[in-house]
Amino acid sequence: MSERSQQQTGRTAAQEAVHDSAFLRACRREPVPHTPVWFMRQAGRSLPEYRKVREGIPMLESCMRPELVTEITLQPVRRHGVDAAIFFSDIVVPLKAIGIDLDIKPGVGPVVADPVRTRADLERLRPLDPSDVPYVTEAVGMLTAELGATPLIGFAGAPFTLASYLIEGGPSRTYENTKAMMYGAPELWAELVERLSVITAAFLRVQIEAGASAVQLFDSWAGALAPAEYRRYVMPASAKVFDAVAEYGVPRIHFGVGTGELLGLMGEAGADVVGVDWRVPLDEAAKRVGPGKALQGNLDPAVLFAPREAVEAKTDEVLAAAAGLEGHVFNLGHGVMPAMDPDALTHLVQYVHERTAR
Ligand code: CP3
Repeated sequence: MSERSQQQTGRTAAQEAVHDSAFLRACRREPVPHTPVWFMRQAGRSLPEYRKVREGIPMLESCMRPELVTEITLQPVRRHGVDAAIFFSDIVVPLKAIGIDLDIKPGVGPVVADPVRTRADLERLRPLDPSDVPYVTEAVGMLTAELGATPLIGFAGAPFTLASYLIEGGPSRTYENTKAMMYGAPELWAELVERLSVITAAFLRVQIEAGASAVQLFDSWAGALAPAEYRRYVMPASAKVFDAVAEYGVPRIHFGVGTGELLGLMGEAGADVVGVDWRVPLDEAAKRVGPGKALQGNLDPAVLFAPREAVEAKTDEVLAAAAGLEGHVFNLGHGVMPAMDPDALTHLVQYVHERTAR
């Protein structure tokens, strides 16, 4: 790139290449050389090289070692040739960093020692300072240096999904304690999600300031709510998070599972890209989300366990439904599963690139 254009954009050549990547172009709804692909939970999970470097190191501890975070984040980029990297961490890392006693149990998920149920419990949820997560700043810096033209996606858990772990004390299928607080103690609930929005916004800001070029807000379990409840009890806190990072101008992705009825509201909350699970075809999702936003998704992850011909056929269906979209980032409808064959994922990336090459 010429010196003059560098002066015009204020970006280095490397930053310019990232800015011009297929992934960021699709997020901005600009023309792309091919449909970009990445996979939620691509870092870790099904990769033998991940299991090897993680051996004997607990999940949360591995998130606090910058060299290890860098290596794990790069593994799927090297192996699959995906169009974006996602930072290796977890949605509960900022909660751990402010002193919440929690752990990630293998095969279970986050487990909180003392669930948050009362007003006094809220005092434990102090704001996050960048100095609470120096390992995040360090790892993102190392990664952006290593990734070259491949963009890095930062992420955080949305207030509702984080609240569900804090209140239930672990994973839940019914969210009974969470909903009991939401409906029964709405003021306490509002204060809880307000505090979480501050923590979440700070966690995203740390990643963007260190060099992440897009962010995804995971409201994985928001699909447990009806639209009216989502709008009233959840959307204001998530909207605050999106507002808090708007000034950076990086694309903001908003994703949840089983959120077919919420897609319009999840866009309205302030997302630039709305993630769609496999239950709603992308052309229908585009109608629900409305104009001015890109979509991300939405191959059923379980399809990856079928023979290659079936994977290709289902992928063709996703691409056909995406043909009229303003911007499309190919992804699974939810995360990579541990038992998936890594080669099937590599093939899927190649297949989408070939089918969409323009
Ligand atoms: O996407 C990526 O590869 C980046 C890393 C990432 C992890 N967790 C690493 C992880 C991301 C983006 C997350 C987000 C996350 N964590 C979400 C939202 C995404 C989604 O799937 O909806 C949620 C709900 C969590 C909470 C959580 N952490 C769960 C449910 C689990 C799985 C528990 C299990 O073992 O089944 C975790 C643990 C976790 N987070 C693992 C990884 C790689 C597995 C830990 C291991 O390998 O031992």
